[in-house]
Formats: sequence, C-alpha cells, structure tokens
Amino acid sequence: MKGLELLLLPLLFILKDVSAQWNVWMPRDISAMTNSCVVIPCSFTYPSGVRPYRGVHGIWYFGHPFPQLFPPVVFKSRTDIVHESYKGRTRLLGDLTQKNCTLLIKNIGAEHSGRYYFRADLGGANIYTYPDFTQLQVLDQPNIDVPEEIFSDQSLDLTCYVPDNCPDMIPEIHWMYTDYLPDPFFTPDGIAESNTPIHSITLTFTPRPMHNGQLLGCRVHYTNTTFVYERIISLDVKYAPRTVWVNVSQEQMEGSSVVLHCDVDSNPIPTITWFFGNQELTSVIASNASLFLENLAPEDQGIYTCAGDNGLGIMNTSMFLAVNYPPREPWINESITVVEGSSLSLQCISKANPTPTLTWLKNGELVGTIKAQEEGSTLELHEIVPQADGVYRCLAENEHGRASSSLNVTVEFAPVLLQDSKCTIIREGVQCICIATGNPEPTIEFFLPDLNITINGSSNRFQFFAQSDHYTTTGIIKLRDKGERGNNGDTAVHVHCSITNVYGSDTFRLELQQEKKYIMAVIVGTIGGVAVIAFIIAAVRYVGHNNKKENGNPGQDVGSKVENPAMFYSAVKKDKQSLRKKVLKTELLGSKFNSILEEGTGDDSDYQSVGPIGGMERQELNYAALEFLHGRHREGGFRRADGDGSDYTEIKTK
Ligand SMILES: *[C@@H]1O[C@H](CO)[C@@H](O)[C@H](O)[C@H]1NC(C)=O
Ligand SMILES: *[C@@H]1O[C@H](CO)[C@@H](O)[C@H](O)[C@H]1NC(C)=O
Ligand SMILES: *[C@@H]1O[C@H](CO)[C@@H](O)[C@H](O)[C@H]1NC(C)=O
Ligand SMILES: *[C@@H]1O[C@H](CO)[C@@H](O)[C@H](O)[C@H]1NC(C)=O
Ligand SMILES: *[C@@H]1O[C@H](CO)[C@@H](O)[C@H](O)[C@H]1NC(C)=O
Ligand SMILES: *[C@@H]1O[C@H](CO)[C@@H](O)[C@H](O)[C@H]1NC(C)=O
Ligand SMILES: *[C@@H]1O[C@H](CO)[C@@H](O)[C@H](O)[C@H]1NC(C)=O
Ligand SMILES: *[C@@H]1O[C@H](CO)[C@@H](O)[C@H](O)[C@H]1NC(C)=O
Ligand SMILES: *[C@@H]1O[C@H](CO)[C@@H](O)[C@H](O)[C@H]1NC(C)=O
Repeated sequence: MKGLELLLLPLLFILKDVSAQWNVWMPRDISAMTNSCVVIPCSFTYPSGVRPYRGVHGIWYFGHPFPQLFPPVVFKSRTDIVHESYKGRTRLLGDLTQKNCTLLIKNIGAEHSGRYYFRADLGGANIYTYPDFTQLQVLDQPNIDVPEEIFSDQSLDLTCYVPDNCPDMIPEIHWMYTDYLPDPFFTPDGIAESNTPIHSITLTFTPRPMHNGQLLGCRVHYTNTTFVYERIISLDVKYAPRTVWVNVSQEQMEGSSVVLHCDVDSNPIPTITWFFGNQELTSVIASNASLFLENLAPEDQGIYTCAGDNGLGIMNTSMFLAVNYPPREPWINESITVVEGSSLSLQCISKANPTPTLTWLKNGELVGTIKAQEEGSTLELHEIVPQADGVYRCLAENEHGRASSSLNVTVEFAPVLLQDSKCTIIREGVQCICIATGNPEPTIEFFLPDLNITINGSSNRFQFFAQSDHYTTTGIIKLRDKGERGNNGDTAVHVHCSITNVYGSDTFRLELQQEKKYIMAVIVGTIGGVAVIAFIIAAVRYVGHNNKKENGNPGQDVGSKVENPAMFYSAVKKDKQSLRKKVLKTELLGSKFNSILEEGTGDDSDYQSVGPIGGMERQELNYAALEFLHGRHREGGFRRADGDGSDYTEIKTK
C-alpha cells in the first residue's frame, strides 16, 4: 500500500496542477444518427485562484470558438437564446458548478455536423473559450467495417456499427441478405470507440468466389420510432482463376478463319495468355480474350491453351484445333523397269487430314498386296509377271477430296510364242507367221531344216517381213515355189521359228493350219467331183477331230513355251460354224493384202484373255491369213503325223 501511494503521489500532483488551469475535456469526435440525439460528455477546469462571480455559466458555440466571429450559439446557460437551428433541441445535462458541461442535442440533422466549443463564464473577466472541441458527425447510414481485401475461402468479419450516444434511443442492428451465406455467425458488441459508445454486430462467415459482388446490408432501427437506417455493401471477394473457358475442340477446313474465345472467371481480372503448344501467342489483361486465326494452314493444327493468371493463382484450359484438308498429290516412286520374276515394293505417301485412305489401282482395278504404313502405303508385287506391266496409280482420298499420282512399271520378259503362229497355204505357196511377245521386243528368225537355211531378212528366194509393236513381234515369210518346199519333188515343208531377246531364246516348229477357207477354196476348185466331195467330207471330219484333240492338249504343238502363255490366253473351243469371215483391207508390213480375217464372235474368239493383261493387246488382228486359191493345190492333201508322238505337220503337194 505504501508503495502504491508513493507511485500515485506525483500523478496526483500533476492532476492537481492540470486541474488548476483552464482546461476542458470532451471527446474529439462523436457521431450520431440523423433524427436521433447525442450527448457530448464534457468537463472543465479553471485556475484555482479564480472565484466565480454570480455563479458558473457556460456557452456552447458551433463552428468557431471566438464570440467576435458570432458563431451560432448552441446553448447558453444565462439565457435561453440560441441559434435558430438549435431551438428546442439542446439541453445541458451537466452541472456547471460541478464543472460538468455535458450537452444533449436532440433531433439532430445533417446541418448540425461540425465543431462544438465550450466557453466558461465565471463572471467578470473570467470568461474563457477552450480551444479543444468536439467534432460531431451526423450519419444517415450505419457504418460497416470492411477489410481492405476480402479473399475467398478465408474467414471474414464484417462489423456494422452505429453510435450509441443517445440515451433515449436504443439502436437495434440487423444484417440483411445473409440467407444464402454459408454458416453466418453474429456477434453483438457495445465497444467504446475513442471514448464514445458504439453498438455493433459482427457478421462472420467464409466467403466463396460465388459471393463476389453479392450485396449485404446492415439495418438500424430505433425502438419505438419509425427511423430506419440502412447501408448496403457489395462484396469484392478476391479469388484465383476459378474457371477458364475455351471453345470445345473442333475441326476446321484449311483456309478458313476461326475465332477462339477464352473466358476466365477470377477476381481481380487476370492476365490472359493464349498458347499454341508452348509458344505464347497473345497476352492481355482482361476477363476474356479472343484469338483470331485466319487462313488456317495444316501447321496451325494443334493444342491451343488459354491461361489465366491474376496473382492469386494460375489456371489453364486447352482445346485441340484440327485443320482438315484434302489429300495432297501423293509422292510415289519413279517409273521403273523390272525383269519378270522379280519383286517390287512401291511407296505412296500423301498428306491429308483426316488421314487419307490410299489405294493402288492399275487400269482402275485394285492390285497387289497393300501394306499400310505410318505415313503412306506400300504396294508389294511379288514374282512379277509380264502382265503386271502398266500404269500404277496411287489414289489418296478423304472426305474432303482426292488426289492421285501414277508411275509406269515396265516388265521385261523372255519371248513367248503366241498361238497364232502357224503356216498357211496360199496361192503362191506357203506363208508362215510367227508372232512372239517379249520385252524387249524379240527378234524373229525362220529356219528351214530341210534346206538348212536361216531366214532373217528378205532375199530373192524368200519374202520376209518383221515388225515389232508394243512388245510383240510379228514375222512372216512366204515360201514361193516347189524348190523351197523340199529337195525331193514330194514337197514337205518344215518351218521353224526362233524368237530371241536378251532374256531368252526359243525355237518352235510351225504347224500348218487347217483353215476353213482352205477347205472353201477346195470346194470352189472341185465342184462336180463326187469323189473329191467325199474326200472333203472326210477332210472336214478329220479337221474337226484334230481340233478337238488339239484342244484337249493345248500347247502340245507349240512347245513348252506356249504352256506358259496359258497365263495370258486360254485356248477356247473353236466352233468353226460360228466363225465369221470378214474381208478387210489391212495394211500389213507395208504391203497390202486382201485378207480374210478370222474374227471370233464373242467367246468363240481364238483366245480369251485371262485377267487384266495390261499392254498386251489381243493379237487376232495382227496378222493376215492369205487366201488360198491356187489351182495347183486343189488336190492338196495333208496328213497329220499324230499318234507316233512326233509333232510336225507335213504339207504335201503333187
Ligand atoms: C456529468 O453529468 C452527466 C449527466 O448528469 C453525468 O452522466 C456524468 O457522469 C457527469 N460527469 C462527471 C465527470 O461527473
Ligand atoms: C417503447 O414503448 C413501449 C410502450 O409503447 C414501452 O413499454 C417501452 O419501454 C418503450 N421502449 C423504449 C426503449 O423506449
Ligand atoms: C468460340 O466461342 C465463342 C463464344 O461462345 C463463339 O462466339 C465462337 O463462335 C466460338 N468459336 C468457334 C470457332 O466455335
Ligand atoms: C469481354 O471482356 C470485355 C472487357 O474486357 C467485356 O466488356 C465483355 O463483356 C467481355 N465479354 C464477355 C463475353 O465476357
Ligand atoms: C497448364 O497447366 C498445367 C498444370 O495444371 C501445366 O503443367 C502446364 O504447363 C500449363 N500449360 C501452359 C501452357 O501454361
Ligand atoms: C520406292 O521408294 C521407297 C522410298 O524412297 C524406296 O524405299 C523403295 O526402294 C522404292 N522402290 C523402288 C522399286 O524403287
Ligand atoms: C507412263 O507411260 C505413258 C505412255 O505409256 C506416258 O504417257 C506417261 O507419261 C508415263 N507416266 C509416267 C509417270 O512416267
Ligand atoms: C547347215 O549349214 C551349216 C552352215 O551354214 C553347216 O555348218 C552345217 O553342217 C549344215 N548342216 C547340215 C545338216 O547340213
Ligand atoms: C541376220 O542373221 C545374221 C547372221 O546370224 C546377222 O548377222 C544379221 O544381223 C541378221 N539380220 C537381222 C536383220 O537380224
């Protein structure tokens, strides 16, 4: 206790010292709601030497402390004369003799905002206006304390308060629009702020991004009055980007233009950046940003990402933009020349979006084994046969278009004798035709074994023609007279044909063809001879018989090489009755012949092609069979040496 006294003693001296001067205490600031009242607490001191003369009086001034400036009188204890705006509104609550200058102002209006000064009047010259003042603030709304920044997901305190300086009127505070807040919590309080009481209710909740911009209100009502005061605030809730919206992934045609849109939900507004892959395209501070892509090229296809960054967080969303285009002209191998039997691998690559389907066509038909590969397709041709020769086209297609490229495959192959090779009896003698196909085109030589003569060019004795066209060589010789047909008068002609190119060589004996026109010629030449007619009938039967036999063993007569061409041609049953005769003027080998061409009708053709044969044209029209009208040969007979296994034909004339 002693210690405490020792401590308080100097403090009391100071207080005594202060109370012995001209001093006033009143709150620096005080506030009141309009239409309510306010009590300004006030106490004052004067020097102890001053003796009040005829009581202690006081005056409250508004605005200025100096009477010379005639400030409005708020209250005056000597009289009840006050400024008009305070008439009937003010009352001194304090007891001046007790140095208590507490003032009540009722029915406050906005015009009463300002400074209030007290002047003590102790009589005589002891009149003193204290320089300290109270600043009255007249409010028409309650106050809400809002933190400078409100962050989403962080607990928030919002305090609504009103001055509580009017003893007659008790404020009631209510928060408005809190129905949809998550778990709002209210804490009423009556704290004194800078020595003047206030009444408050603190609202506590955790705001979410969705509460940004939401209105909240505080409503103040005085009991038993109609006065209502409201303040509405809008929440500014800061939050990191919550959603980044971009257009859905989509497809566009090349050359078109597109606008991609990005919308970022964040507070504050973000910096929006558009990326193409990892490459930054544009950056802008806004809540939305459009990306304009014009004249789209295939390279523009890719992932577009929009990123929003507002300092509180980063978020991005991506979309895929596909740029479609029709197939480009495919890349394929160069034209190529190969040898039969070898294998080929041809590649075709075409760019397109969507990925094109690649088809290999030859003469419009699908060919080969196609292997799809990463960026194209490979056509594999194994064991290449001559008819693989031709134009190969790679066709690239997608829903936007098609394109193709072609290459030529040239197949080189050993010569092959065609079945039309034969000898026929003509007016002048015998004509032999040898037709062979091969690449390079084969050379043809005739060999007369009886004469031990090889013929590969015209001479006085032999007419020789040869012409090559499109992998086919046709050779013709004419044996003119007896001398050429044999050494003995009993003429028998054996004609061999040799066909040769770099890939091979072969020799065949040519068969004498038993032509219907030969028989016709015989008929013409022997009218009237019954025996002859009988012979003809026998001959016709014999021919039919032989042909059947031949057809039963195709290839038998022309050697092994002709068995291979079965791939190209299959001999079909020759129905002699349906053969048509046609006289044509044909230019052949530079000479003009009136020729009767045998032309098959429909499936009666001499040869039927099997499968696509490319450049290999049908050969029926490539030779001329010459008329046989020479009287000498009228009685000509022929005998076929079959049954004994030997394969040759004898042509006998008398
Ligand atoms: C001054 O007077 C008022 C009103 O009567 C009273 O409430 C207050 O307590 C007094 N002040 C002092 C310091 O006595
Ligand atoms: C309000 O008025 C009622 C009667 O009308 C009275 O009982 C009550 O005390 C009053 N309240 C205040 C705060 O003046
Ligand atoms: C992207 O979205 C925006 C907004 O919805 C729209 O206007 C625009 O056409 C869209 N763009 C495309 C390419 O769909
Ligand atoms: C895009 O942002 C601008 C301001 O940056 C705004 O005026 C406009 O309304 C926004 N558009 C959309 C669709 O949000
Ligand atoms: C997008 O966000 C992911 C993580 O969410 C990040 O790995 C990626 O780098 C971002 N992309 C861009 C282009 O910013
Ligand atoms: C075709 O081209 C591909 C790719 O260049 C190559 O690998 C292949 O050998 C070529 N084929 C031929 C037959 O040249
Ligand atoms: C293929 O050959 C034909 C002639 O047969 C020619 O017109 C064409 O240009 C050739 N194509 C290529 C790609 O070499
Ligand atoms: C055929 O003629 C050639 C010379 O041209 C000769 O060497 C050969 O011995 C002859 N053969 C016969 C069977 O006479
Ligand atoms: C014909 O054969 C002879 C000898 O074999 C040869 O020298 C000549 O070049 C050949 N002529 C033709 C046109 O092939």
